[in-house]
Amino acid sequence: MKSILFRTTLIAAAAALLSTAAFAQTGAKLKVGLMLPYTGTYASLGNAIENGFKLYLTEQGGKIGGREIEFVKVDDESDPSKATDNVNKLVKRDNVDVLIGTVHSGVAMAMAKVAKESGTILIVPNAGADAVTGAMCAPNIFRSSFSNWQPGYAMGEVMAKKGIKKVATITWKYAAGDETVRGFKEAFEKGGGTVVKELNLPFPNVEFQALLTDIAAAKPDAVFTFFAGGGAVKFVKDYAAAGLKKSIPLYGSGFLTDGTLDAQGADADGLFTALHYADGLDTPKDKSFRLAYAKAYKLQPDVYAVQGYDAAQILGIGLKAVNGDVSKKAEFAKAVEAAKIDSPRGAFSLSKAHNPVQDIYLRQVTGKENKLVGVASKALTDPARGCKM
Ligand code: BEZ
Repeated sequence: MKSILFRTTLIAAAAALLSTAAFAQTGAKLKVGLMLPYTGTYASLGNAIENGFKLYLTEQGGKIGGREIEFVKVDDESDPSKATDNVNKLVKRDNVDVLIGTVHSGVAMAMAKVAKESGTILIVPNAGADAVTGAMCAPNIFRSSFSNWQPGYAMGEVMAKKGIKKVATITWKYAAGDETVRGFKEAFEKGGGTVVKELNLPFPNVEFQALLTDIAAAKPDAVFTFFAGGGAVKFVKDYAAAGLKKSIPLYGSGFLTDGTLDAQGADADGLFTALHYADGLDTPKDKSFRLAYAKAYKLQPDVYAVQGYDAAQILGIGLKAVNGDVSKKAEFAKAVEAAKIDSPRGAFSLSKAHNPVQDIYLRQVTGKENKLVGVASKALTDPARGCKM
């Protein structure tokens, strides 16, 4: 029995060495399809994700899981109507081994559908669409970011505990906005609050004036919002310009003020938001990440850069376990499921549905930083509604 086991182990080890050697000998690069927005309101988010991903690659000497990487890049423009064509081109025409993307929830759902059908490994480095690790969950789909439910739910708890009673919400009408507000409402109403008005406008529209007038008329105790990127900059500035900042406190999921503070200036000062990253975490991992990022890009990192870095880490963990052979999907998934990912946000693991189980921080804008105030929700796990895995 012992000798059979020994022989089996030897054969497995030899096969692993051979497959690693095969990649090394042929020099076959791992084809990574990077599908991100490089234009439009989310362009800076896509760039930060790519920077973070490439920072990890550089730290690993240019290889992930022993494989050099060839990138095939697509600008998805945050346009769901082009998403299926874009992702099909990567999978069917370019034959990518792995998909990394994207920012926009609607585009990510199209990616998840194709990944699920084709079996291609997909790592989502931002988009929070609840379905990606909910009803659409699959063994080959992973997320390094968050679900839309998570920051919304955490902020709902915070605002209810503050004793706020009546809130108006305002957001873009698509999955990210709808689901963030739904998460917020779930916790806020459980804590005794009431959502008195739900306002929205189509993505990526930034004509906020009429809705700001509605908020002033409704006179809620506070406003909760989801906006991100260029739209978040404009919303925060318009909210202050309308004179509302002084009379009706504005709260948000943390995307409202992440990667945006230079452009928002004093109009963002004092805002409270909830997110899985913050300035001033002061951990060795975060400090070294921030130093390396600033040195490489002459920029301060934001949450998007962290998520890109962690997407590369997840790929590295999976690839290492299969000696660079992405066809071994079950072993890839097993390794990622068992891992603690050493993220700048704090170490996290993935839930059974492959979404991060993570602390959501309460932050307040001070100067040009989203300063850590405390932990709003410890090890918050998305409910993964509809996931059968
Ligand atoms: C989303 O569409 O899921 C999203 C976009 C930007 C920031 C956060 C979430």
